[in-house]
Amino acid sequence: MNQGAMGVGSGMDAELNIVFTEENPGHWQSLAQLHVPNVSVSGNQLSVSTPHPMTEAHYIVSHTVVLENGQFLDRKTFSWKDQPASKHILPAGYSGKVTVTSTCNLHDFWVKTMTV
Ligand SMILES: [Fe+2]
Repeated sequence: MNQGAMGVGSGMDAELNIVFTEENPGHWQSLAQLHVPNVSVSGNQLSVSTPHPMTEAHYIVSHTVVLENGQFLDRKTFSWKDQPASKHILPAGYSGKVTVTSTCNLHDFWVKTMTV
């Protein structure tokens, strides 16, 4: 069987409507503002928040932080009674890529990537 003929996608095309970003909100286009995490850095502290309401039926489930080369840093899970905000400590002197995810129980998996 020639798998090459199946047209398997690559790069961002393979992630459309699976992983959502500000630039590629896919079928959740009207919801991007509520789901893309806000990220700021002060010293070695990374602060993440998602501007999303928290109700029992609809809430932000978690934030995850991954560094360069897929190095897992931290994850925080939320109940609907929490505020969707988290703080994470970067390794001392770290500079490089930081990928933050915010997951909604109804609207999937949103990603923001930055360089610090
Ligand atoms: Fe949502």
